Amino acid sequence: MSQLPQIPKTLQPLFEAARTARDRSHSPYSGRKVGAAILTEDGKVYIGCNVENSSYGATVCAERVAIQKGVSEQGAFRIKEILVVTEASPPWPPCGMCRQVIAEFGGGDVPVHAVNLKGELVTRRFSELYPEAFTPAHLAK
Ligand code: THU
Repeated sequence: MSQLPQIPKTLQPLFEAARTARDRSHSPYSGRKVGAAILTEDGKVYIGCNVENSSYGATVCAERVAIQKGVSEQGAFRIKEILVVTEASPPWPPCGMCRQVIAEFGGGDVPVHAVNLKGELVTRRFSELYPEAFTPAHLAK
């Protein structure tokens, strides 16, 4: 696998993981392959790709697939970092529904890296992407 010189060396493992998932994308309807990698605070990496459906609304994004796989493997965890790979320029950030799911398990200062196959990288803090997120804390009050 070729490395992208444009993205920092520290991000290469997450990038490779997300790109591997992206290669498995089931996206015959949009033709847009997406891969995501989630690094947990306890050091595990979960990957996901978008899984589309002929009943379009049943489609699930790469980020949510990765998170749901992680929860099913180990139960709830805290997210440390997220990386999403697309072919798009500028690279796609997580959609609104995925931001809500990320807020359940991470949020705040968590870095969200949007990367494309040319190595363009946009990094945002989660709170920049989803300020005033609805979180489990709201239900507790
Ligand atoms: N998609 C993702 O996988 N993640 C996002 O955050 C944005 C959108 C997928 C869903 C669909 O399969 C395709 O990209 C086009 O929307």
